[in-house]
Amino acid sequence: MSSPPAGSLPPWLPIREDLAGHTAYGAPQIDVPVQLNTNENPYPPCPALAQAITRAVGEVAGTLNRYPDRDAVALRGDLAAYLGHGLEADQVWAANGSNEIIQQLFQAFGGQGRTALGFEPSYSMHPLIALATGTRWISGARDADFGLEPDHALTAIRDHQPDLVFLTSPNNPTGTALAPDVIEAVCGAAPGMVIVDEAYAEFARDTSATALTLLSRCRRLVVTRTMSKAFALAGARVGYLAADPAVPQALLLVRLPYHLSAVTQTVARAVLALASEPLATVAALREQRDDLVAWLRGRGLRVADSDANFVLFGEFGDRHAVWQALLDRGVLIRETGPAGWLRVTAGTPAEMAAFRDALDAVLARGGDPPIAATRRAAARRRGSTSGAGSPDPGETAVPGQPAAEVHR
Ligand SMILES: Cc1ncc(COP(=O)(O)O)c(C=O)c1O
Repeated sequence: MSSPPAGSLPPWLPIREDLAGHTAYGAPQIDVPVQLNTNENPYPPCPALAQAITRAVGEVAGTLNRYPDRDAVALRGDLAAYLGHGLEADQVWAANGSNEIIQQLFQAFGGQGRTALGFEPSYSMHPLIALATGTRWISGARDADFGLEPDHALTAIRDHQPDLVFLTSPNNPTGTALAPDVIEAVCGAAPGMVIVDEAYAEFARDTSATALTLLSRCRRLVVTRTMSKAFALAGARVGYLAADPAVPQALLLVRLPYHLSAVTQTVARAVLALASEPLATVAALREQRDDLVAWLRGRGLRVADSDANFVLFGEFGDRHAVWQALLDRGVLIRETGPAGWLRVTAGTPAEMAAFRDALDAVLARGGDPPIAATRRAAARRRGSTSGAGSPDPGETAVPGQPAAEVHR
């Protein structure tokens, strides 16, 4: 069942005024044969890993009368070892998904009277968590090709002096990655914290281009990661960050006591101990992604460069009609990003074949308005450089608010 929109709440409920009328996060959870809409890893744990997880959970089962290690020290050590770059456990922090990490960062460094700047289209939860924590969100724009020119970023920082800057690389929903020199320039100019959301880092074509390399030079830089994607562990909810040791110390003030259950900690550690198993899927998914980009371009569609496990493609006059027609054929993708674009997650070869067959069938509907609009949009683009960077307010900015301006 999808969540009902918060805007439909009854008038007698005394919800905070700044939350009233907003729409909750709600990627559709629809039970169809091919689910390519939430950037999950399609490969479940292999039998050896499933057994290791079962064994680990069995071992803590008899101790669940006790609270877990409040500071998740062993897990943070394992995560630091996985990340490398000379990181130690005290530079790493873990929580229930990187969404909770991001929320804790907003709680500690944002809040009433403070601002956060992001460059959109980007991950829709950044402005939503800003809203939930009372942080004023400033929506900057990406370039027409969904990249970010350093000058553009520095101007926005100079103009707004934000307490937090969010850079997502590889970016969701566009898939585009930022060069480390852009991130370093932002760190040099930002007066507050710089958060680089690297949820998809392992899928990048150049994995050495991570912001982890900048940590020793940029004290207020935080790199967030997740086990949901490359580690195929979305169901266990494990996210983490790497930063100066002062950052995890600050987060102790806002985290709830015992926020990360003993079951979560032990499952994450079991998976990290056999990391090569889930991470072996990354190479296969990168290949599927690259094939998908080439195939979509071969169909005459516009496709953003992707360093993630998904691909943004368009442009359609009525993207909802295309999304629905695919769903009617049992293929669920995501209606997100700038108007006219759709996002599809890289899946197994069989899932990709089903997606290609379904999209071919949809595109083959001669004289179809969406396809006509694709050609019109392409012609428009040739005559103008603007437009591609403007987010769809319904998906990539705080819903119900104008997209390209300062808002709470
Ligand atoms: C850019 C980005 N950051 C963070 C997340 C949150 O991931 P999780 O909370 O599962 O770690 C996602 C999820 O899709 C994402 O796309």
